[in-house]
Amino acid sequence: MFVTEIFNKKELFTISTLVEIVKQKGMFNLITEVPNLYELFSAEYISALSDYIKSRINPSDLILEVGAGDGRLAHFLRERGLNVVAIDNFEWEITPLFPVEELDYKEALKKYNPAIVICSWMPYFADWTPAFRNTRSVREYIIIGEFPGGCCGNETIWSDHEGFEEIEIDFPLQICRTDRDHFFHSGTFIFRRME
Ligand SMILES: C[S@@+](CC[C@H](N)C(=O)[O-])C[C@H]1O[C@@H](n2cnc3c(N)ncnc32)[C@H](O)[C@@H]1O
Repeated sequence: MFVTEIFNKKELFTISTLVEIVKQKGMFNLITEVPNLYELFSAEYISALSDYIKSRINPSDLILEVGAGDGRLAHFLRERGLNVVAIDNFEWEITPLFPVEELDYKEALKKYNPAIVICSWMPYFADWTPAFRNTRSVREYIIIGEFPGGCCGNETIWSDHEGFEEIEIDFPLQICRTDRDHFFHSGTFIFRRME
């Protein structure tokens, strides 16, 4: 099956299918083949992430995904019963596959007062985390992407966030656009407000 065929579809695949795809590509990766695909969310990963978020929220809490791109992540989490709003300012002209509101991330924080913020693949060299920390309603934020040193945010997004502690959670293997062969290197970083 062609990779492009898979990712035009609005569904999730298992980790083993995604790993097989990455391995079939050998020394190459998915960057050129599937435009604007960053994290290849697996069914197992989405279940684990939604279970984690459910363990951290109250029924009325809103979860905000910023820089949501095509809106896939928010959609998969909504399918699991979470109240997620996805926003993006559309600067990168990624066509939404699912509902995404056109809004700057700072405006969205003010508008929605989220309890949890999620950001997958923050633009390279950006750090939106000060705005997350300065939003009083935010109890936690979750950063997903290529580990420190990759093309995702800047070095300051991954650690040492004043007033917030980093929480280690053992999520299922993550797979991303720059993985190849046996090299898997994206992760999920959780920062929780210290009371
Ligand atoms: C690397 S893409 C990640 C897309 C998506 N989160 C994913 O993982 O597939 C970064 C996204 O951030 C959006 N973006 C850039 N600046 C923004 C801003 N100030 N407010 C909201 N979204 C922004 C871009 O339009 C783009 O869709």
